[in-house]
Amino acid sequence: MNEPILAIRGLTKQFGEIRALDDLDLDLRAGEVFGLLGPNGAGKTTLISILSGTVRDFGGSVRFQGKDLFRDRELRAEMGIVPQDMAFFEELGARENLYFWGGLYKLSGQELRRRTDYLLETVELNDRAKEPVKNFSGGMKRRLNLAIGLIHQPRLLLLDEPTVGIDVQAKVKILDIIRRAAADHTAVVFTTHQLAEVESLCDRVAIMDKGRILAQGTLDELTRIVGEREIIRISGEFSAFEISQVLGNLPASDLFAIEDHNLTLALDSTAQIPGILETLFQGNVAVSDLKIQSPNLETVFLKLTGRSLRD
Ligand SMILES: Nc1ncnc2c1ncn2[C@@H]1O[C@H](COP(=O)(O)OP(=O)(O)OP(=O)(O)O)[C@@H](O)[C@H]1O
Ligand SMILES: [Mg+2]
Repeated sequence: MNEPILAIRGLTKQFGEIRALDDLDLDLRAGEVFGLLGPNGAGKTTLISILSGTVRDFGGSVRFQGKDLFRDRELRAEMGIVPQDMAFFEELGARENLYFWGGLYKLSGQELRRRTDYLLETVELNDRAKEPVKNFSGGMKRRLNLAIGLIHQPRLLLLDEPTVGIDVQAKVKILDIIRRAAADHTAVVFTTHQLAEVESLCDRVAIMDKGRILAQGTLDELTRIVGEREIIRISGEFSAFEISQVLGNLPASDLFAIEDHNLTLALDSTAQIPGILETLFQGNVAVSDLKIQSPNLETVFLKLTGRSLRD
């Protein structure tokens, strides 16, 4: 198997009492799109910040292209970072911004112009390239941010929630740009709360919670964690406590996850549903909806964390 482009071992980060990363291992291969999926506070941004050098004082090691990332400063030049907050000059145009950031990576002349042209075209900002960036919409700013992260053709691109707060069309464009970067042999790590993005984009995924990776693999590999059972989702105006009282004598293996307003069951057969509904009605539990789901990333996440992922 190919040597991983990024090899993270035992990464641990403590903020006072909080263990933001807890002995985390992760391997990334060249040209791979890797999704980091996790609820608020899982440690996703902390991981990206350590890799990009903005958070220090941690334990563990990171090797990038076979070398120690924190020893070899030149390795940073092979990395592109797209932070969640915008990083560009509002008064300058898109083209000038790309020239500036490209210059920081020691690009110049023909090469810088060629790369800038290519990226303005890719992120579809060609016709607005001269206007001050402050006039841009949120989606346009995100696209520029992404172009800046790619200006020096990094081998690894780190993206922290690149599609937060933008409309569906802009999202589709951004995912497309990430796909093109991967096709140009850039490995991508991106964090998200959005299962659909992961399903449409990622070669592999890690599910993170409380500073740990609970599982990682391809979508198929992860989906197998849920197994062959029928996943039933029942929602309504009930609390987790109420439902656990009423369903107390159901085998634990049938109870997949119990949350306020949501009960998820993993059953051998849908034939068990009427009996369970009867029990709920007898117990005065207000059910408003019932869905039969095929196992997907959402059910894997629920199984591993005991919680649904918020959008
Ligand atoms: N600078 C800091 N000082 C203190 N605690 C911090 C700091 N940065 C992060 N933390 C804590 O570390 C934990 C992980 O935070 P992190 O921002 O990495 O989570 P996240 O997975 O990115 O969450 P979100 O989905 O909300 O962006 C949280 O409990 C957070 O409060
Ligand atoms: Mg974050």
